[in-house]
Amino acid sequence: MATSENPGRGTWNSKLGFILAAAGSAVGLGNIWGFPTQVADNGGAAFIIVYLVCCIFVGLPVMIAEITIGRKTGKNPVGAFKALDPSGFGAMIGYWGVLCGMMILSFYLVISGWTLAYVIEQILSFTGNEAGASWFGDLGNGPKNAIFTVVFMLFTVGIINGGVSNGIERATKVLMPFLLFILLIMIGYVLTLEGSAIGVREYLMPDFSLIDMDLTLSAMGQAFFSLSLGMGALITYGSYLKKDQNIMSSATYVTVVDIIIAFIAGMLVIPAMYVAFTQGIAIFGDDGDLISSVSLVFTVLPQLFENIGGSLGLVISVSFFLLLGLAALTSSISLLEVPVAYVIDEHKVPRKKASLIIGGIVLVIAIIISFDIGLIDHFVNIFNEIGLPLGGMMTCIFLAWVWKTGNAIVEIEQGYPGAAESGFTKTWAFFISYICPILIGIVFVTTVLNIIR
Ligand code: PHE
Repeated sequence: MATSENPGRGTWNSKLGFILAAAGSAVGLGNIWGFPTQVADNGGAAFIIVYLVCCIFVGLPVMIAEITIGRKTGKNPVGAFKALDPSGFGAMIGYWGVLCGMMILSFYLVISGWTLAYVIEQILSFTGNEAGASWFGDLGNGPKNAIFTVVFMLFTVGIINGGVSNGIERATKVLMPFLLFILLIMIGYVLTLEGSAIGVREYLMPDFSLIDMDLTLSAMGQAFFSLSLGMGALITYGSYLKKDQNIMSSATYVTVVDIIIAFIAGMLVIPAMYVAFTQGIAIFGDDGDLISSVSLVFTVLPQLFENIGGSLGLVISVSFFLLLGLAALTSSISLLEVPVAYVIDEHKVPRKKASLIIGGIVLVIAIIISFDIGLIDHFVNIFNEIGLPLGGMMTCIFLAWVWKTGNAIVEIEQGYPGAAESGFTKTWAFFISYICPILIGIVFVTTVLNIIR
C-alpha cells in the first residue's frame, strides 16, 4: 500500500501502527533514564509540573506541525521542506535535522549498548563472578563499550532494513506493550519495599520555590528530546501516515503516552533510590543532592537489585535493563530512519544500501565516543540542548510564516473533517505562530548563553 503522493514508499498498516511507532520513538532512554534523572537533579515534583507545561504547550503543537509537514509532502525532512519552499532555504532545516539525528544516534547507541552490557553484568554478579561483572559494568571501558555499541547498531539496522510496516511497525507493536508490562510489574514490586514511601512523597510533593530558569531550560530540553522533536523524526514518520488518519488525535495520543511512561518510570526509579538508601546504599552525592546523571540508573539500581538477591533479584535486574534496551531500540530506529529516508528519497539509493552506508558512518562516530565517553556531554549540549530546540523553533516559524497555517489546516482536515472550525485546531494555529517560537526562542538563547559562558 502506498500514500497517494508517493507510490511505493511504504505506509503504516494501521492507525495503531503509527501511534505505536511514534510512541516507540518518543519513549526511550529519555523517559526511563533521562526523566527520573532530571527529576532527581531538579528537586523532585516541581520539575514534573514545568515539564508537563513544556510538553503540552510547546511539544504537542510542534509534534502536530512535524507530522502535518511529513504527511503533506510524503517525504524525508530535507525533501519535505524543499517541496514546501522552492527557494531551497527551508531545506536547511531538514539538513540540520538529518545531522542532529546522526549525531544524537551516535551517543545514544553507546548508552543503549550499556543496557545490554548490564544484562550480562547482572547475570555475572548474581552468579558470583565479580571480576567478569566489573568488566561488563565499567562505563569507561572503551573496548566493551565499542562491542555493545556495534551489537546495538546491528539490531537497529536490522529493523530498518525490514522497512516501514514489516520492520518498524512490527517491532514496535510487540516491544511497546512488553515494555509497559515489565515496568508495571517492577513498580508493583518496588512499592512493597521499605523506604519506597519516602521516595513516592519526594516524587509527588512539589516544592514550587525550586522553579527557576535553569529548571525550565532542563524541562524544555527534556521535552524536545523525549518527544523526539526538532530533528524531523516525526516528519519522517508522518510521511508514512495515510491521509484518512487524524493527525491531531494521533499526536495527542503519542504525547500522552510519552508523558505517562516517563511519569511511571519516575515512579519506579525515584522510590527505588530511597529503598536503596534504606538499605544503606549511598544515593546522595557530596553536595547533599541526590545522585543524578549516569550514576543514577547505572550504579544505584544494580546495587539495589543485588540486595534483593536470589533469583528474584536476578529476574528484576535483567528485566529492567532489558526494558531500558528495548525502549532505546524503538527510539534508535527512528533516529536512523531520518537520514536513511533522506538518502533513499533524495539520492535514490535502495533501503538496504542506505541503512548500511548511514549506519556505517554513525558507527564510526559512536566507536570514537565509546572510547571517550566524556564526549557524550558535548554531543548532548550541541545536538540535543541546542540542536533540537533550534530545529523545533525553525519548524514553527517555517510552518506559520512560510508555508502558512491555513495550508497546514487543509492537510489536517483530511482525516479530521471539520478541523478548521475546531477550537483545538485554532488554538494550535495560534500557538505554533506565536507562543511556541517565542518560548523556544527564549529557552534557546538562554541555553546558548549558558553553554558559552
Ligand atoms: N525520544 C527518544 C528518547 O526519549 C530520543 C529521540 C530523540 C528519538 C530524537 C528520536 C529523535 O529516548
